[in-house]
Amino acid sequence: MELIDLFLAFASLLFLAFWWRRSFSSSSSAASKAILPPGPPGWPFVGNLFQIILQRRHFIFAIPDLRKKYGPMFTMKMGQRTLVIVTSPDLIHEALVQKGSSFASRPPDSPIRLVFSIGKCAVNSAEYGPLWRALRRNFVSELISPLRVKQCGWIRDWALERHMGRLEAESKRAGFVDVMDTCRFTVCQILVCICFGAKISEEWIRDIDNVTKEVMLITMPHLPDFFPILTPLFGKQMRKAKQLRKVQVECLLPLINNRRAFVQKGEGPNSEMVSPVGAAYVDSLFGLDAPGRGRLGDQELVTLCTEVFVAGIDTSTSVLQWVFYELVVNQGIQEKLYGEIVERVGKEGRIGEEHVETMPYLNAIIKESLRVHSPAHFTLSHAATEETELGGYRIPADVNVEFYIEWMTEDPSLWKDPEVFRPERFLDGDGVGVDMTGTKGAVKMLPFGAGRRTCPGLSLGVLHVNLMLARMVQKFKWVPVPEYPPDPTETFAFTVVMKNPLKAAIVPRL
Ligand code: HEM
Repeated sequence: MELIDLFLAFASLLFLAFWWRRSFSSSSSAASKAILPPGPPGWPFVGNLFQIILQRRHFIFAIPDLRKKYGPMFTMKMGQRTLVIVTSPDLIHEALVQKGSSFASRPPDSPIRLVFSIGKCAVNSAEYGPLWRALRRNFVSELISPLRVKQCGWIRDWALERHMGRLEAESKRAGFVDVMDTCRFTVCQILVCICFGAKISEEWIRDIDNVTKEVMLITMPHLPDFFPILTPLFGKQMRKAKQLRKVQVECLLPLINNRRAFVQKGEGPNSEMVSPVGAAYVDSLFGLDAPGRGRLGDQELVTLCTEVFVAGIDTSTSVLQWVFYELVVNQGIQEKLYGEIVERVGKEGRIGEEHVETMPYLNAIIKESLRVHSPAHFTLSHAATEETELGGYRIPADVNVEFYIEWMTEDPSLWKDPEVFRPERFLDGDGVGVDMTGTKGAVKMLPFGAGRRTCPGLSLGVLHVNLMLARMVQKFKWVPVPEYPPDPTETFAFTVVMKNPLKAAIVPRL
């Protein structure tokens, strides 16, 4: 520890003692006026934080037991932060849809996340208000509108052709394929091209993917998130975060600058800049007037482009990994899917984006995978815009409201044999007509959240998963590798993934 760290530590402790006395003697804070739902009793100062840490499992895996004990909505004190955990489908629907605008904000970011969000200048982190509205409107129209999705179809074709080649090469080299790893690379390649309109080297894609992974890990909740007051004590982590931010900017800024020069020259596409001016997401950001910020600077551009990778890579590839896990262990389901593909386009026919929408069994498999293996057990953290009533309690604006979307997919009163992977339930069973967006009333699964902050990438994410799955199953039969038996144990690494990444052998179908 350097001298300055020691000094800051001492100053923090003094401040902490002051804060502790003040917050526990005062009865006028918003939280103390509000009536929060009861929850597990905590320890002085740290609340429930160490009870969770001592369980040696990630917070999300502790929720089912707490839900059993404290009911559909309960409160947890995690250091300085108060978390209201909402688990019942009715309350989640009430908060996110019926009272949508009241629960549409985000809580304060941790000091480390602020380094990467540049003061919450991203769709996912911006507070509910004009900046979020402008960023989200731009995101939807410039990245995922039907017109843009159609315009970028060739990017997926190009990347998926290479993907097939990489699968074959990896299988030849190692004897199996690491599903998550190979799919990650391809999804990253697609998103980089959509974002910057450029084809870049494979090394550069890997660098972007690696730095994105590191950013996701460093911005996951750590001790300082729960004790912002102690931030000065965590100088080392802060320096590490700033260094990583520098690496991230060095990795992405050249792409932004190249694209800016191309847009300014107004040239036509070439072998590197493959999308015409106006067709890449970043083009729309150059001219965007962001409320409260004005024209966006380089740092904000890096953050907004990174958001596409952070939000779009892990989620989609985690879904793919779980789907392949199920296909490898349930060969009957895989063959039924192959049958649907052959019937629709033939053994060698090109599977287009227009085909995957009209393959009921393919879609049922994805929905069942999202139900049984949702990559997100929680939505992102929400916050009320002002003190608001929910389930008979008053929720103040200064607490995190955490929506646990996992429980509704495990609830035996909503699903028959909820633990069983059975895509057919979406064709003729308890999944028929299920609405994944929460717009039609009662909810049974919300893997993308619901309401104002619902995932804007739903259609793009599902398209990537559908298309990759269909093409990978058309070309290869996927079978287990005896040395690495598929193991469904879960772990949390930004999304819920397989603790032992799936390795599968591939057998060409033709
Ligand atoms: C299958 C894949 C995906 C899943 C399961 C998923 C899931 C989610 C969930 C649960 C949320 C939180 C909603 C909330 O806080 O209430 C979210 C937010 C978000 N997602 Fe996705 N997502 C996926 C793919 C994508 C893709 C491909 C993109 C973009 C390229 C994307 C962009 C975003 C953004 C920007 C937000 C923040 C929205 C806001 O705060 O207004 N997602 N997603």
